[in-house]
Amino acid sequence: TPYTNMFRRPPVLMPFEEGVDDKGPFQRYRLTQKLGSASIVPGLTTTVAGYNGIFPGPTIKVNQGTRTEVRIANKLTVNRINGLPFSTVTHLHGSASLPQYDGYANDQTAPGHCKTYHYPNWQQARTLWYHDHNHRDTAQNVFSGLAAQYHLSDQYERAQLPQGEYDVPLVVSDMAFNADGSVAFDDSGNAGFMGDVILVNGVPWPTMKVKPRVYRFRVLAAGISRSFRFTLSTGDPVYVVGTDAGMTPKVAAVSSWRHGVAERYEILIDFRKYKAGTKVELKNLSNKNNTDFANTGKVMQFQVVEETGAKDTYVIPTTLDLGPQPYANRGAIEVNKLTADMAVARRRLRVERKHGLWTVNGETWEDVEDSGFTRVLGNPKPYDVEIWELVNESGGWFHPLHIHLIDAQIIGRNTTADGKAHPWERGGKDVFYLGENETVTALMQFTTGDGNEGGRYMTHCHNLVHEDNDMMIQFAVGDAKV
Ligand code: C2O
Ligand code: CU
Repeated sequence: TPYTNMFRRPPVLMPFEEGVDDKGPFQRYRLTQKLGSASIVPGLTTTVAGYNGIFPGPTIKVNQGTRTEVRIANKLTVNRINGLPFSTVTHLHGSASLPQYDGYANDQTAPGHCKTYHYPNWQQARTLWYHDHNHRDTAQNVFSGLAAQYHLSDQYERAQLPQGEYDVPLVVSDMAFNADGSVAFDDSGNAGFMGDVILVNGVPWPTMKVKPRVYRFRVLAAGISRSFRFTLSTGDPVYVVGTDAGMTPKVAAVSSWRHGVAERYEILIDFRKYKAGTKVELKNLSNKNNTDFANTGKVMQFQVVEETGAKDTYVIPTTLDLGPQPYANRGAIEVNKLTADMAVARRRLRVERKHGLWTVNGETWEDVEDSGFTRVLGNPKPYDVEIWELVNESGGWFHPLHIHLIDAQIIGRNTTADGKAHPWERGGKDVFYLGENETVTALMQFTTGDGNEGGRYMTHCHNLVHEDNDMMIQFAVGDAKV
């Protein structure tokens, strides 16, 4: 029953070691991928496979300029879904990681083994997430629980947006369960998966008590295939202050927004105008080509309680100062300041269903594998600026297309009245919602950062069933060594 369960936040992971070396401050973390039991369906136990045995996994919170090393041990010796052991590979989505730590789909860690991932964290503040990326098993591994948020913070973000108790992660996903409480995963048909239960932070349709204050929500759609169109039941606007790559230069007030798998939107909700006792629902208006069930139009509920402390005097900003662009001295340009005339190449990526396969430019990840991983879409140099035209020619399907490494600005959409990005997506993006017959023009820079000579990076559909069915190709930046 919607709104009967209490909202909860995922725990924050603490480093087991921190310090400063000749390259600056660092933190070391440990995670174990293992089975755990969750009570998701009231009265029943669900076995999840998660980071530290929970879904979503713990949130990692780091400051810009502090490197992190995350040691991830795979203790998943039993896969409940198909009886095979889980191999895993972790991708920190939104990070300009070195290629060997980017979660390359074929760079697997077998059960009983571990890998330490190094993350540079030089980028500006943003909401990232880490999730499994194991080739052909990504959908079921993420469905089983291998997903969590990662927050990169900086002084500009801290000075302008709500913090602490008023900064709330929302991992929204859809699931289906068997009568015994076990997860019911089905990707037959290779089309996708749409569950009938909406979870927020692993809780079905929760109710969250909020004070009459301004809250910041870091919304991540972390299901397998479903997209959302979020809106508030009151008709009041939400204020979009962040997209995939961090704060937006302008704050956009929107009455709803479309949100595909893996996209992150940071929004502010102003609860000050509601009296104690008011209930505000976060709802899901449907998008085309999704499958709706009785309660998939509901997401969560906020219940406004009495203010106990001082009145919240926060002023909702109209613009945000993102701070200086790292590596500007090497030619890095802040994503929102890129202009089309800076581009040195233009590429077209056509996504379609061809001979029963999900393809990008007629190719699949199998072609990449068959080439010994040498086949690439292109080979930009570090700090090159390019324009990619992303074209959905697949008919009645939508695809959240993800490009690793880069932040991009959407400079064109074929379906909006003015040909520009939707109001909520006017900030740095790494996932591009390609609805039926939609084309997105994305302007991006291949900013690699310190010590990164380049390497191979994936680009793929983030409908995880499409991704597992080979809707993935790669590009190489600079020297293509992994
Ligand atoms: Cu969120 Cu290639 O992944
Ligand atoms: Cu797709």
